[in-house]
Amino acid sequence: MLIGLGSGTTIRLFVEKLAERVRREGLEVYFVSTSYDTSFLASKLGLLERPLLEEKPAIAFDGADAVFPGKWVVKGIGGALFREKIVDYYSKEYVILVDEGKLKSTPSDVAVPLEVHPFSVSQVLAELRNFEGVKSATLRVADKGKIGPVVSDNGNFLVDAVFSDVLLPENLERELMTLPGVVANGVFAIKRPSRIYVGARDGVHIIQ
Ligand code: A5P
Repeated sequence: MLIGLGSGTTIRLFVEKLAERVRREGLEVYFVSTSYDTSFLASKLGLLERPLLEEKPAIAFDGADAVFPGKWVVKGIGGALFREKIVDYYSKEYVILVDEGKLKSTPSDVAVPLEVHPFSVSQVLAELRNFEGVKSATLRVADKGKIGPVVSDNGNFLVDAVFSDVLLPENLERELMTLPGVVANGVFAIKRPSRIYVGARDGVHIIQ
């Protein structure tokens, strides 16, 4: 079975459990990865990575930064959104794993990450600041000693755009892609997850 693996701290826990099960039950599972982080961890734990070729992954497992009513999600705080969108959207289905703190009733003041080619970043920031409903748009800069912008696994920069509200997430997802230089945005609404598993204090809830 070919599966997609997302990125982030929640997915790391999932990868550990998956690797354990694959080892214990001798399952034949290959994964397509969405980040170096996931590739390194999953490979270290004995899972076998494959490139994304013609075969569609049967299912992808991914985390999210915010989950909204109607099952659309925002992703990309971890900076892996470009490959996450490719793997999630080209998989036959994808499911999202979150803790209950990620459930939001309204997308007001939500920060939507965008991956932007460095050549275009100043123009994209200027355009975004004039975009309907945008309160702020900022280039993500590194912490922990590195100077300058955060660079994605694909050599691009990350921009965080805060919206006062998002009424039609599919439209926003499409419109953000009309800005030349934007290579991906963190709105996942055109293709929604088939299920969302929510870890809560009283167990796991499934949003279908
Ligand atoms: C990576 O770019 C993100 O989309 C992550 O999937 C998302 O931020 C969830 O990460 P955590 O599980 O670490 O909160």
